[in-house]
Parts: sequence; structure tokens; C-alpha cells
Amino acid sequence: MSELESEAMEAEFGPVAGWTEEAVRALGPEHAVPAGCRGSGREAALRWLADRLALTPDSRVLDDGAGVGGPAGWLAAERGVRAICVEPMHAAARAAHRLFGLPSVAAVAQELPFTDAAFDAAWCLGVLCTTSDKAGALAELRRVLRDGGRLGLLVFVADRPLPPPLPEGNDFPAEEELRELLDAAGFRLGETATADLGDSPPEWAERADAVDAEVARRHGDDPRWQEAQEQSARVGRLLADSALRPWLGVTEAR
Ligand SMILES: C[S@@+](CC[C@H](N)C(=O)[O-])C[C@H]1O[C@@H](n2cnc3c(N)ncnc32)[C@H](O)[C@@H]1O
Repeated sequence: MSELESEAMEAEFGPVAGWTEEAVRALGPEHAVPAGCRGSGREAALRWLADRLALTPDSRVLDDGAGVGGPAGWLAAERGVRAICVEPMHAAARAAHRLFGLPSVAAVAQELPFTDAAFDAAWCLGVLCTTSDKAGALAELRRVLRDGGRLGLLVFVADRPLPPPLPEGNDFPAEEELRELLDAAGFRLGETATADLGDSPPEWAERADAVDAEVARRHGDDPRWQEAQEQSARVGRLLADSALRPWLGVTEAR
């Protein structure tokens, strides 16, 4: 294991990221954003957050834990803002650069390779629930955001003990814990919402499914694909049972 907190997550966010890039290349660039949003879910959540980050074309924006870059690719295409992507899995960081032409660096959220106040805005989507050191990640986000800079979050929260089987390596906070962590890190919480993970244009899901099918065709026998599928099925079940809630929040650096 290298950077992440379980081998299952390493499989899900490492090799599968590279295979996703490979499948997008085979199927066409219109597949890149839907297939590249691994965890941030759907367009409605991205729109909700982007509308609240006070973005201008000149904004310096960080996508922290960017995965293969789908959300940052969406932001560039829809809002004309080019985020810098940070992602610990090399295959994913490479995919974000190669699929979307965005600057992308391999690093963990707890050690961001940027100077203080380097960004006007940031988002961090589906990442805080994959690391136990949330305080470390939030401290770094606060450090690299200028005073008054906005941070948008998508966090899968669990308000009660979760029924097994649980996805390996995830660490889902309760909403109350998340609010305390944000406050302690120097963020003032503004609007919050529950993301509607079903709200996307129909072709969004079709394209994401087509990429999954192509990856399965090429790598379906690989145990890492099966492990990744099991991980996302477990998360899917918890969401379907409302045991997990996709929490959206916008905060301002105090
Ligand atoms: C559920 S995915 C979300 C990816 C992307 N933000 C999106 O919405 O499509 C979680 C991502 O967090 C990354 N991650 C896990 N631990 C991290 C850490 N300590 N620092 C930064 N990113 C991390 C994983 O490699 C993975 O790409």
C-alpha cells in the first residue's frame, strides 16, 4: 500500500483510474466528464457548488483529491475556470492531465505542495470520507486558501452506526463532527444541502455506464476491478438505504 488507507481504495482509485482513462480514449471524449466523476456523483451537485464559490474567470481554484479530474473538467467546460488538480494516485493524477489538459499534481491533501493563500477557491469532493486525518486535510485547505476564500465540500456523512458490509478504508463522519472539524480548521459554514445523486442528464449515466462496461470488458477478470466494484456497490447500498447521506456545504475561510 502506498498513500491511501486500504488496499481496496488503492485499487478503486489507482488502477481503475488508469483503466477509466483507457476506456474514455476508446469510446470518445464526451465520456470523460461523466466517467471521470468518481464520487462527486452528478452534475446537479457540481452546479450547486460552483454557483456558490464566487468564481470569476481569473479565480485560482484547487480541486483537492481530484481523482481522474471529471469535476474539474466539468468546471473548465461549463464555467471556464481551470482548476489545479491534486490527487495522490499517480494514475488518476495523470488521467486528469491527459483527459482534460488540466494542471495536475500527485500529492495528499495533508501535504499540499502550494504556498499559503495560493487559491481563491477550492472544492474537495468525496475525499474527506476516504481519509481518517480530516483535520490535517482541512488545515492544509485553510492554509492554501486566502482569507475569505470559499471551500465547497461533498462529504458522505453517517449519522448513525452503519450496517455491514462496509466499504474498506472509508471513514464517514457524522454531520456534527464535520461541522466541528470545519470550525476548528478556521472555516465558517454557509449553505448546506443534500445532493441529489439522481439528477443528471440521461446521457451522463449512459456514458458513465458505457465506460464501466468497457473497463469490465478489458479488465473484468482482474481482482482489482472486482474489488473496486464491490467497494462502490457497498457505498451504493448504504446510500440507497439512506444510511449514508451525500452532504454538500459551502464554507468561507475566516
Ligand atoms: C471518491 S473519490 C472522488 C474523486 C473526485 N473528487 C471526484 O469527485 O470524482 C476520492 C478520491 O480521494 C482521493 N484521496 C484519498 N485519500 C486522499 C488524501 N489523503 N488526500 C487527497 N486525496 C485523497 C482518492 O485517491 C480518490 O481519488
